[in-house]
Amino acid sequence: MPLSQPTRRFFLKASTLAAAATALRGTGTLAQATEAEAHIEILPGEPIATISPEVYSHFIEHLGGVIYDGVWVGEDSKIPNQNGIRKAFIDTMRAVRAPVLRWPGGCFADSYDWRDGIGPRDRRPARAGFWNQQDSNQYGLHEFMRTCRAIGCKPYLAANVRTLPARDFYQFVEYCNAPAGDVPSNSSAPAVHNGFAAQRAANGDSAPFSVDLWGVGNESWGCGGNMTPEEYAAEYRRFTAWTPSYGKEPLRLVAVGPNGDDVDWTSRLFRALHANPERRHLWGLSVHYYTSGSPSKFAAGDALQFNEADFYDLLTRGSIMERVITDHWNAMGATDANHSIKLVVDEWGAWYGKGTELAPQYNLSQQSTMRDALLTGITLDIFQRHADKVAVANVAQSINCIHSLMLAQEDKFTVTPTFHVFQMYLPHRGAQAVRAEFAAPTITNPLANAPIPVGGNSYIGSLDAVKTLAGLSGSASLAINGGGKQLTLSVVNPHIDRTITTEVTVRGASISSVKGVVLASRDVHDHNDFTHPNAVKPTSATTAQPTGGRLLHTFPAASVTTLQITLS
Ligand code: AHR
Repeated sequence: MPLSQPTRRFFLKASTLAAAATALRGTGTLAQATEAEAHIEILPGEPIATISPEVYSHFIEHLGGVIYDGVWVGEDSKIPNQNGIRKAFIDTMRAVRAPVLRWPGGCFADSYDWRDGIGPRDRRPARAGFWNQQDSNQYGLHEFMRTCRAIGCKPYLAANVRTLPARDFYQFVEYCNAPAGDVPSNSSAPAVHNGFAAQRAANGDSAPFSVDLWGVGNESWGCGGNMTPEEYAAEYRRFTAWTPSYGKEPLRLVAVGPNGDDVDWTSRLFRALHANPERRHLWGLSVHYYTSGSPSKFAAGDALQFNEADFYDLLTRGSIMERVITDHWNAMGATDANHSIKLVVDEWGAWYGKGTELAPQYNLSQQSTMRDALLTGITLDIFQRHADKVAVANVAQSINCIHSLMLAQEDKFTVTPTFHVFQMYLPHRGAQAVRAEFAAPTITNPLANAPIPVGGNSYIGSLDAVKTLAGLSGSASLAINGGGKQLTLSVVNPHIDRTITTEVTVRGASISSVKGVVLASRDVHDHNDFTHPNAVKPTSATTAQPTGGRLLHTFPAASVTTLQITLS
């Protein structure tokens, strides 16, 4: 589909060129600047932190077609399934080695009673779910655990803080984690069988689920109860003052954090929590940041219909995830000086207005184009550059939803361009993030002065943050078992119609060889659908031989690239 207005090459401003030239001079590579428009210098001597494999995590909620049809098709379905779970969902999650899966919500979690989803399926009650859908409860806790086992990922459960008491939370933990069989009671009494463990075994799982990651509520400033930070802090303390863990390690408890860049929430919450000296039960702070396009033409932006200005605006707004992370990190540091508490980006993605749903009942499902693939690369690179701060991040949501890796409707299935980016970034997983300097012509956001979108959890605080977009962005990591010789460099070129020839150097080392993968398409509107599931897919990157230990690489317009670099 052609762009709705003619594309034009973005004019490289003199000031920007001067800045790029200064950066090039600073690295002593001016001689090659005539052929390169940009420069990337990787600094293996400046490690950031190990990239937590859990920053590539996932989220599914009882919402629209996410659980019912997306994940759960039922054991009697003609759709290939494993114990009722869509096989293509399992296979795709395995293909990206999904580390963590969050469930049951989202907003749904704060009206969900976990007891409704256990026991024989034919006796489970249907209930009104948060998203105005009757929930049959055919997919419950045991089905979710089976999903995690089939994928090989860890479960991350969200507790209901708005409509259930703290007692239900610790009993939920007990049901999940109490050991099977007889356990010592106290020194004089005989061993006992835990009642919840026995119930769990009767429901098909005698071995404990050993869930260690727990969210204490969801968006308590909004759908989770419209609380103030101080009110939530009091709830958080009540819910976590005593919780059985049964594991060797304490539970990883995650407190509800801000909407986007709302630093006031974080500062007030941390002050309120730290006002009480009993504060050891906090492992992570959640952040939800969705990218909504400025409502220039289409309300909240449209997944498929967008012009060049909308395209740059969306990517610029997405790239301020970096500012969201650093702003909250700094605010947390005011009371947690040693930074023992990490960030958990519970929900992220591009959230558009209505119009591309699979069908009306697939609430919040939307199409996903090359633009979303670029946003995926930009976001994962930010997490990698801030590997010291971000411990977990979940794309929202894995299937049939906002920023999905998969779309499914009955027996039809496709992966989206976002899936491919997750796969391309696998070499970064668990590697050592190292600093990399990028110097490239920047892009001015044509919609920088458009109003800040309201709702959609995309609070950005100030318009100053969305004026410019980096002309190239990315991140670098050193393989842990690569003897210091294997680097991965990922790069997003967001220029809609401009290739960027870039000189890549490694400080203190020479590049001996390189190979790579690239995701690019003829048009940024390109996407996969049920009849064209391979319209967008990655290919091998065309790489030149390094000369003199340096590499000259051309990043295609609107592309995501990962390069595997071997040092001599
Ligand atoms: O992901 C959809 C919704 O977005 C989630 O339920 C909620 O947490 C957020 O507002």
